[in-house]
Amino acid sequence: MTVKITHTAEIQKFFEEAAGFGNDNGSPRLKRIMLRILQDTAKLIEDLEITQDEFWFAVDYINRLGARGEAGLLVAGLGLEHFLDLLQDAKDEQLGRTGGTPRTIEGPLYVAGAPIAEGEARMDDGSEEDVATVMFLEGRVLDLDGKPIAGATVDLWHANTKGNYSYFDKSQSEYNLRRRIITDAEGRYRARSIVPSGYGCDPQGPTQECLDLLGRHGQRPAHIHFFISAPGYRHLTTQINLAGDRYLWDDFAYATRDGLVGDIRFIEDAEAAAKRGVKGRFAELEFNFQLQKASSAEDEQRSRRPRALQVVGA
Ligand code: BEZ
Ligand code: FE
Repeated sequence: MTVKITHTAEIQKFFEEAAGFGNDNGSPRLKRIMLRILQDTAKLIEDLEITQDEFWFAVDYINRLGARGEAGLLVAGLGLEHFLDLLQDAKDEQLGRTGGTPRTIEGPLYVAGAPIAEGEARMDDGSEEDVATVMFLEGRVLDLDGKPIAGATVDLWHANTKGNYSYFDKSQSEYNLRRRIITDAEGRYRARSIVPSGYGCDPQGPTQECLDLLGRHGQRPAHIHFFISAPGYRHLTTQINLAGDRYLWDDFAYATRDGLVGDIRFIEDAEAAAKRGVKGRFAELEFNFQLQKASSAEDEQRSRRPRALQVVGA
């Protein structure tokens, strides 16, 4: 037997009251959003005949998700962070703001305040020297005409060989594999680092619990994150996802996009290694970024987000 009451005037009035429409205080914007959440949730409960057990399981799940700091992980895994990119792309398209390096998700693992270097930096602390492959990463920041942008900030971060990020993984040193590099007169940045491994959700965490019930894995391909910014240009949040990774086009967070695949080359040549000052096999990766011009001061900023969320071992 299907019983529906959401559409009645009585229930609608009740939700308006619960969303604060009966008073003049608070935030009109939040009231509008909350009313919609209440209306849509009630409709979903009715339409899908959500049981009391399912409802209270969901409440407990939200508590567990928050306690582990995994909300940012779940929204990525459910594709909502990627949806925000698709929506912004569609808005840009409508305004004719096309061209340049595609945006893709930030993910929940950024930490502000990484050390700053001019032109080049070493990103790793050497702690994985025995197991890691050295990676030489370089490229240029350009405008849409291909002209170099000097003084751009390349804020980059990536995981270690275990797929873990410093700050969240307390076994790593502060800001390991996180740097800000200011481009030189030719718009060039250079980094020496290690080849990262792909991130995987904590198998015991609530995000993976949900993904398991959806029959999905929680793995990302190996990748490097970037914020690229420069005065007068539009802030770019993006990533290079590494070619050859089995999850390249099967990314649980849907971040890999055309134009964002990095052709990493692995080199086994003693002479070339000696020239680079390393021993044995190493990797090279070249990637240029193209920025759109900013059309407002807001354009130059990254969208505001609370500081990175705690995920691993919280
Ligand atoms: C990441 O880029 O590492 C990431 C993105 C979304 C969810 C979790 C991790
Ligand atoms: Fe990442």
